[in-house]
Amino acid sequence: MKVLGISGSPIKDSNTDRAVKLALSATGLETEFIKLSNYKIEPCNACLSCVETNRCIIEDDGNLLCEKAAGADALIVGGWSPYSSLDSRTKAFLERLYPLRHRKGKLAGKPGGAIVTCAVPEDTPGLPDACKTALDAIMYFMMEEGINFAGGVTVQGNVPCLSCGHGDECRMSGVKMIYGPDATVQGVGVNILEDQEEVLFSLEKLGEDIASLLDD
Ligand SMILES: Cc1cc2nc3c(=O)[nH]c(=O)nc-3n(C[C@H](O)[C@H](O)[C@H](O)COP(=O)(O)O)c2cc1C
Repeated sequence: MKVLGISGSPIKDSNTDRAVKLALSATGLETEFIKLSNYKIEPCNACLSCVETNRCIIEDDGNLLCEKAAGADALIVGGWSPYSSLDSRTKAFLERLYPLRHRKGKLAGKPGGAIVTCAVPEDTPGLPDACKTALDAIMYFMMEEGINFAGGVTVQGNVPCLSCGHGDECRMSGVKMIYGPDATVQGVGVNILEDQEEVLFSLEKLGEDIASLLDD
């Protein structure tokens, strides 16, 4: 049994990467971790060339990633949430799994999990629930491909304005947008996955749940 974990985060060893790796290791099975920024993958062109061949005609890494997804017994997809939606790499990856669908439904019946990192905490007044939107995007993909959705986990990440060097004085500061006009970079601090006990627990549970679905 092999579980494939995907991270759409381009940041080196990011919260999303580590969260996906934790869930993978909690499965206790053979795993492979893929960082999408190491691959070239365009969005789907909706040309339907893949209908008869179950292969995409775009010459990038899409077909390689399709082979990895088709060859895995379960998938864990990790994304992040720029502008309150699922990041474009992860979205392009999901779209490009379309060739696996036609007639064969190669992903159908496999267990799948979703992980999303976002900066805006749930219930922040005046701002969308970015994690929910991004998680829903992964979950709806899994529903539509007949993947057996094992659950979704959200990780509290960081607004880039905390590290850009201008978070305290920039008129567009995300620090102030999220935490209010008096918030400061130092006062807000950096969120690290390993400090989020409940999230660690949920990631472990996600991995275990995927393993037990594969056991059934
Ligand atoms: C261009 C850009 C836009 C962003 N917009 C949002 C947003 O609308 N809502 C949010 O919650 N986080 C937003 N973020 C923050 C990311 O979700 C956050 O940095 C997340 O921690 C990234 O995950 P990673 O650290 O695993 O890469 C944005 C980040 C970038 C770079």
